[in-house]
Amino acid sequence: MSFEHKLLLAIANNVGTPVYVYDKDRIVAQINRLKTAFKNLPYQLHYAMKANENPEILKIIKENHLGVDAVSVNEIKHALSLGFDKNQIIFTPSCPSEADLAFAFSHDIHVHIGAVEYFDFILKSFPHKAVGLRINPDTKIAGNQKIATAHYNSKFGIPVTQLNLIKKYLNAGLKVDSLHLHTGSDVKTWHDLARSAEVLMDFSKHFPDLKYLDLGSGFKVKYHPSDTEIDLQAYAGFLQKSLKSFNRDIQLKFEPGKFIVSNAGVLLVKVNVVKQGYNKKFIGVNSGFHHLIRPMYYDAYHQIVNLSNTSVPTQTYDVVGVLCEEDTFAYNRELSPVQKDDILMIENAGAYGYVMASQYNLQSLPAQVLIEGNDYRQI
Ligand SMILES: Cc1ncc(COP(=O)(O)O)c(C=O)c1O
Repeated sequence: MSFEHKLLLAIANNVGTPVYVYDKDRIVAQINRLKTAFKNLPYQLHYAMKANENPEILKIIKENHLGVDAVSVNEIKHALSLGFDKNQIIFTPSCPSEADLAFAFSHDIHVHIGAVEYFDFILKSFPHKAVGLRINPDTKIAGNQKIATAHYNSKFGIPVTQLNLIKKYLNAGLKVDSLHLHTGSDVKTWHDLARSAEVLMDFSKHFPDLKYLDLGSGFKVKYHPSDTEIDLQAYAGFLQKSLKSFNRDIQLKFEPGKFIVSNAGVLLVKVNVVKQGYNKKFIGVNSGFHHLIRPMYYDAYHQIVNLSNTSVPTQTYDVVGVLCEEDTFAYNRELSPVQKDDILMIENAGAYGYVMASQYNLQSLPAQVLIEGNDYRQI
């Protein structure tokens, strides 16, 4: 399934640029791929709403019967305001305040606790609440250091070496009904995910009253043409086997963000200028890291297509933005020859795109559009 270029050009023309464009059918197709892969598992999906929390995107998530994973009180409030039931929301905050935790507990939202240092507060203020524990399995496997969240030096989760301390709190009355891990984004092979899952299953031996194991996400999508997507069927097969030998009545949860929305979105930008440097040709577009920060922050590769000229790519450019500092979308990229006012499509921008945008340099935020079938509307 690919975006129809004529439609994208019409959107750029009518709505203006820069504009994020999402396609509902592609989102639903990705959800269905997950449902197909996991169909033989006892599982539930909680969309990581941080990836894209536009209300219209969340409506699609809800229509398809997924829950959400929230990471802030405002995300919880947002999900509740859109009609998600409190049982469909899980809360996986990083270093939250006690007030954040109190909000979640008092709204009956299930919380994943990522530090033993919160246990005294929980026992004192919410002694009857059962919590989930986010474990750090010490497996460094994500695609990039900035999105690796389960390694020895990571701030996330409780080190497995703190088991004895956890046991002390269990004896003191702490109720633990689930375990969680998230190894990071962009995990290249299912074997890596499986390794973390094994650590969690092994750790769960010490917790007799578990309702679920939450295995997070990290499901890679294809950014570079040479990338391979994660083999979800193989991962699901591994989990099915493991659950059999695990032999406990337990549910699995997954928290996919990127897999659901990333390739369902593109960012359309307009060429302000094509300029010659000493040694390079630059395409200056009406955007920058204030709209899409992934190429600069994660060194992420995003495909770029010149929608205004789809001839064979023959020219090499650096694609840069309008900010007062380095904001390069692509270095030495071969594109079809580009002229002022051409519209470029930056692919795979549906996840961690608009949500990470800012108004740095007092620039405006991009518009957002949802395609539904042959129609589109601003959202
Ligand atoms: C706790 C947690 N769950 C799920 C996700 C979603 O990961 P992805 O977008 O790679 O699917 C993240 C992403 O950072 C996360 O921190």
